[in-house]
Amino acid sequence: MIDKKEIIENIKKATTTSEIENITISVLGKNGQLTLALREVGKLSEEERKTKGAELNKIKTEIVSLIEEKKSILELEEINKKLESDKIDITLNKEKPFKGYIHPLTQVKEELLQIFATQGFRLVSANDPDIEDDFHNFTALNVPEYHPARSMQDTFFVEGGNLLRTQTSSVQIREMERSGVPVKVITMGRVYRSDWDATHTPMFHQIEGLYVDKNVTMAHLKGCLVDFLKSFFEVDEVPIQFRPSYFPFTEPSAEMDIRCTIQNGELKIGKDGNRWLEILGCGMVHPNVLKSVGINPDEYQGFAFGMGIERLTMLKYGIPDMRKCFETDTRWLSHYGFDASDVPNMITGLSRK
Ligand code: DAH
Repeated sequence: MIDKKEIIENIKKATTTSEIENITISVLGKNGQLTLALREVGKLSEEERKTKGAELNKIKTEIVSLIEEKKSILELEEINKKLESDKIDITLNKEKPFKGYIHPLTQVKEELLQIFATQGFRLVSANDPDIEDDFHNFTALNVPEYHPARSMQDTFFVEGGNLLRTQTSSVQIREMERSGVPVKVITMGRVYRSDWDATHTPMFHQIEGLYVDKNVTMAHLKGCLVDFLKSFFEVDEVPIQFRPSYFPFTEPSAEMDIRCTIQNGELKIGKDGNRWLEILGCGMVHPNVLKSVGINPDEYQGFAFGMGIERLTMLKYGIPDMRKCFETDTRWLSHYGFDASDVPNMITGLSRK
């Protein structure tokens, strides 16, 4: 016998469309209760068939409509649930757009330019070649062929007797050829040497200064560099020492050291320092250098200096490994780089936003 009550109860209790599906199968499926019961009707007498058949069909109609009704309610519920769970929360912050940073070397180049521009140096030579000839890189700088000073710099030679310039000093020669004397210029650019460790990369950057006029002395050199160091390292006083050295293109030649302390890996520059730190090379331009570009050394004299921009950057901003400067690792850059919107362009003074 069909238990109509129970079937209806089950339909009411169903909470998912698949439960309704199961009920449908168990009642109206090929072997469902009602299907079987209807099949049995055929075996009854004609009289019984009529009443029983009518009764069962009525039950069937009722159950089918209950099932349909419940099914559509549950389907709607399930769709709503799915929509709820698939919902995109448009109030969430969208991923921040990738943000660029000013590379520390770019920052320092601009700082250097600003400081030396204040002292009246003119920036030259953005177009001077990285592939240099022997004359400008060595010979004219008082390093003749076979001179042992050539081995001070591990040079990359290229075909045709040229080389990748090992120093920006080559621009001293190019600039004096270009515009003669008096001259007061700086240049900044790439130089190359066959080196590779935490403080050396095969390509790095130098800044070079040259000031030649009729009465330029070593006192001017000292004043220029001390002012530079104070501005660059943002200190009121910076004890320095000139340590006698050798560069072929200057006489006398010196390396300049500054007073500093290094504590827990942190560098502090200034008068309370307890040790000397080498910072740059400099000297009075060698008469042979002036002669090589047709300038009379009895009439003109001057000073020159050169330093590594990476070294200055590492010292000022506490960067431990120089090689990272050139790995274009955005994590490194977002740590050591400068927020473009905070730092105005040092040259134009304009915001970079
Ligand atoms: N060119 C030198 C170097 O690469 C640095 C240097 C030293 C430049 C003394 C100068 C100078 O102009 O006067 O090691």
